[in-house]
Amino acid sequence: MIYLEQFSYLLASVLFILGLKLLGSAKTARKGNQFAMFGMALAIVITLIVSGIAGPTQIIIGMVVGGLIGGIVAKRIEMTSMPQMVALFNGFGGIASTLVAYSEYMRFDGAETMDINVTVVLSLFIGTVTLTGSLIAFAKLQGIMRGAPMVLPMHQILNFILMIAAVVFGVLNVMEPAIPLWPILIIVVAAIFGVTFVIPIGGADMPVVIALLNSYSGLAASATGFVLSNNVLIIAGALVGASGLILTQLMCDAMNRSLFNVLFGAVGTDDSTGESAGPAGEQKTVTRYTSEDAAMIMDTVQSVIIVPGYGLAVAQAQHVLHEMTQLLIARGIDVKYAIHPVAGRMPGHMNVLLAEANVPYDALYEMDDINDDFQNTDVALIIGANDVVNPAARTKKDSPLYGMPILNVDYARTVMFVKRSMGAGFAGEANPLFFDDKTMMVFGDAKAVITGLVRALKKD
Ligand code: TAP
Repeated sequence: MIYLEQFSYLLASVLFILGLKLLGSAKTARKGNQFAMFGMALAIVITLIVSGIAGPTQIIIGMVVGGLIGGIVAKRIEMTSMPQMVALFNGFGGIASTLVAYSEYMRFDGAETMDINVTVVLSLFIGTVTLTGSLIAFAKLQGIMRGAPMVLPMHQILNFILMIAAVVFGVLNVMEPAIPLWPILIIVVAAIFGVTFVIPIGGADMPVVIALLNSYSGLAASATGFVLSNNVLIIAGALVGASGLILTQLMCDAMNRSLFNVLFGAVGTDDSTGESAGPAGEQKTVTRYTSEDAAMIMDTVQSVIIVPGYGLAVAQAQHVLHEMTQLLIARGIDVKYAIHPVAGRMPGHMNVLLAEANVPYDALYEMDDINDDFQNTDVALIIGANDVVNPAARTKKDSPLYGMPILNVDYARTVMFVKRSMGAGFAGEANPLFFDDKTMMVFGDAKAVITGLVRALKKD
C-alpha cells in the first residue's frame, strides 16, 4: 500500500509540474488545468483511502457535492469578479493550512521532534496571515474598502512589534509545545499582522500583494505537508509558493518597484478626489465626442492601437470590440492591441478577456514590444483603461502610480478615451491626459460606445 501511495504522489507531482508548464501559454492552458486537476484528484483520493479517512462511497459523495458547488460558483461568477474570487481562494488555502496544523497539534503526544514543532508554527503563522491578508485584498478589490494605501500611525513599528511577538511565541511553542496558549497567540498575532501588512499596500501595487499572498498560501500548504509528513502536499505547496514568488517578481518588474518598496513604501495615500481635474492652476475643460465622431475619425486613419483596461471587462465589450477591429482591418487599417502587464484586476486579465472573444494571439503586443510604435500611430484607442496610460506615473512624485511604466499612448497622433466619466482608475490618481489637446473623450459604457461605433462604421 505504501508503494501505491508514494507512486501516486509521484505521479500527481509530475502532473502538477506538467500542468504548470502547459499553463504558460494560452493555447495549452486548458490542457494544463486538466492535468493539474487530475493530479489533485488522484492525490486526494489516495490520501483518503490509504489513511482510512473515507471509503469509496464517502469519496464519491464528497466529489459530487464539492463538484456541484464548484461548478455552480464557476458558472455564475462574473468575469469581473474573478480577481476577488482568486483572493478568496488564497485565503481559503491559508485557513485550511492553519486548521490542519492546529488539529495535528491537538493530537500531539509530546513525542514530536523539533522540526515538526517548527513547521506547525510556520503553518499557523503563514496560513493565518494569508487568510486575513487575502480578506483585506478581497475587500479592496470588491470595493468594500478603498483601493488606496491606508497607513496607521506608527504603522511599520506596529508591524515590527507583531513580527517580534510572532517569533517569541513561535520559539516558546517549539520549546514548550505542551502549553496550549502559544499556538492561540501565534494565530492571533498572525491574524492582526495579515491586516496591518496588506492595508498600507494599495493602488497600483495590489497586483504584487495578490501574487505574494498566492505564494504564501503555497508556502503554508508546504509547511503543513511537513507537519503531516505528506510528500505530495510539500511538493504542491512548494510549486505554488515558487510560482507565486516568480509572479510577484514579474509584477514588481511591471511596476518598476522593488518588493521592499512595495511592502514598506506605502506610496501615495488616500487623498484623491477620484475625479480628474485640469492641470494645476488652469481651468481646462474636455470636449465630448460621440461614437459617430469616433467613426468619422476612423475613416481617415491608417493605424490604431487599442488599449484595453478593466472597464472593458466591466462592460463585457470584448466581443463587439473584436467585431469593430475586423471592420477596421477590412478597411485596410493596421490594428494592434497593447497589453499592459497590470491592466485589469488579475495577471493576464486582458489576455483571457480577449481570448474569450477569439482575438488572435498575434494581434496582442506586450508593453515593451509596442511602446515605441505609438509615436507612429494615428489613434490610441483606450477602452476602459486609465492607470496604465496615466502620465502622472512618469512625473508626479507623490502619486501611487509614480515609477510604474505606462503605455506611451500620449505619443500617438490622437488619443481617444472610451469611459463613462472623468473618474480616476484603481489607484485613485487623476489623469492629466484627459485634458490634452489631442485627446478625445467619448463618454459612455464601453459596450454601448463600441456598439455605436460598429453601427456607424457599417453605415459608411
Ligand atoms: P483602471 O485604472 O482601474 O481604470 C479603469 C477605468 O475603466 C476606470 O477609470 C473607469 O472609468 C473605466 N470603466 C469602468 N467601467 C466601465 C465601463 N462599463 N465602460 C467604460 N469604462 C469603464 O484600469 P486599468 O487601466 O486596467 O489599470 C488597472 C489598475 O488596477 C492598476 O492600477 C493596477 O495596478 C490595478 N490592479 C491590477 C491588478 C492586476 S493583477 N492586473 C490587480 C489589482 C489591482 P469610469 O468610471 O469613468 O467609466
